[in-house]
Amino acid sequence: MRTSKPRLRIGLIGTGFMGKAHVFGFAAAQRVFDLPFELELHTVADRDEELAAAAARTLGFARSSGDWRSLVADPEIDLIDITAPNAFHHEMALAAIASGKHVYCEKPLAPTAAEAREMADAAAAAKVRTQVGFNYLCNPMLGLAREMIRAGEIGTVRSYRGIHAEDYMADAEGPFTFRHALAGGGALADIGSHALATAEFLLGPIERVMGDCITVIGSRPDGRGGRREVEVDDASRAFLRFANGASGSIEASWIATGRKMQHDFEVYGTRGALLFTQERLNELHFYSTADATGRHGFRRIEAGPVHEPYGRFCVAPGHQLGFNDLKAIEVARFVEAVAGLRPEPFDFRAGQRIQLLVETIQASAREGRWHVVA
Ligand SMILES: NC(=O)c1ccc[n+]([C@@H]2O[C@H](COP(=O)([O-])OP(=O)(O)OC[C@H]3O[C@@H](n4cnc5c(N)ncnc54)[C@H](O)[C@@H]3O)[C@@H](O)[C@H]2O)c1
Repeated sequence: MRTSKPRLRIGLIGTGFMGKAHVFGFAAAQRVFDLPFELELHTVADRDEELAAAAARTLGFARSSGDWRSLVADPEIDLIDITAPNAFHHEMALAAIASGKHVYCEKPLAPTAAEAREMADAAAAAKVRTQVGFNYLCNPMLGLAREMIRAGEIGTVRSYRGIHAEDYMADAEGPFTFRHALAGGGALADIGSHALATAEFLLGPIERVMGDCITVIGSRPDGRGGRREVEVDDASRAFLRFANGASGSIEASWIATGRKMQHDFEVYGTRGALLFTQERLNELHFYSTADATGRHGFRRIEAGPVHEPYGRFCVAPGHQLGFNDLKAIEVARFVEAVAGLRPEPFDFRAGQRIQLLVETIQASAREGRWHVVA
């Protein structure tokens, strides 16, 4: 594709589940949005040369490398995209920032809030743009829910329930992975981080938490005939108090047998309520006390072109967006931020905030008492 737009040359690190989703995001964003840059898939890196070369062929990158540091050092690359395991985010992002690159990094931003702060501070000092992959916030139905809450359509918000539950760790004989080590973060950091991001996106800051974090499967096969002790939680819950006076809870579990993608919330106000489930991500359920007597009930609002930016993808309502489309929206908003057309939608400072919430819940669980979020 030839265009007069300036190029934004991308270096991608990691080509697993998220690496591929990001490439879908770059490809779709380029075609459905009027971006200020032409996105160029410059170089891809993975653990070794062979893996990286194979990924370059399938994903459409011009070059490949078995060493992520060569991407960071390459003056031709403008943006480093990190989809490697959590334990690498800190080192990779700091190196990229030091080279003056913009950085797009998957969540959780870093294994600790202190490391996340270091990354956010470095990005601010270097004046580079950053983005953390909290893609569920890009769903037009979440944008609509926030708009309705802010407009007072459900009155004063009294309570909130959020959950992120999946079953990808439910098998006790499943292998030990990067997610089971301390730097992997556990269920709360891995997926509870999404539930926390959604809670604050909708209701604003959480002020106090009372957590409970549990390891259910104590050890897992280590791939060498033995077992390795699991260092993190399999399920976590937290009671929450929001600055706006509402109370609520979130739950995170990766051992929720049968659940594939339950990222749900319920918001209850004085004049109505909103319900959402990610398993039906194109729907928002709305209850209004203003309905006529005998006509009360949750109505289903279906996503359509009126809910921007759905219309960029499809002119017809009800035809539905999917997970990869949310990534495309995330990419488009970040690229616009890189061009200075808008603030970053979810920058490293916001990622640091989520990690702080995770750690405050963990500390509260250890001590068995309420903690104030610093
Ligand atoms: N936003 C979301 O909805 C979402 C969903 C899943 C995962 N994630 C996040 O994405 C990140 C990756 O998770 P995933 O599920 O894609 O994992 P994955 O195991 O599928 O992919 C990780 C990739 O990183 C590569 N890698 C490992 N070490 C490397 C190194 N030293 N240098 C270069 N590449 C290296 C692996 O070979 C692999 O290609 C994690 O931080 C995870 O929390 C986010």
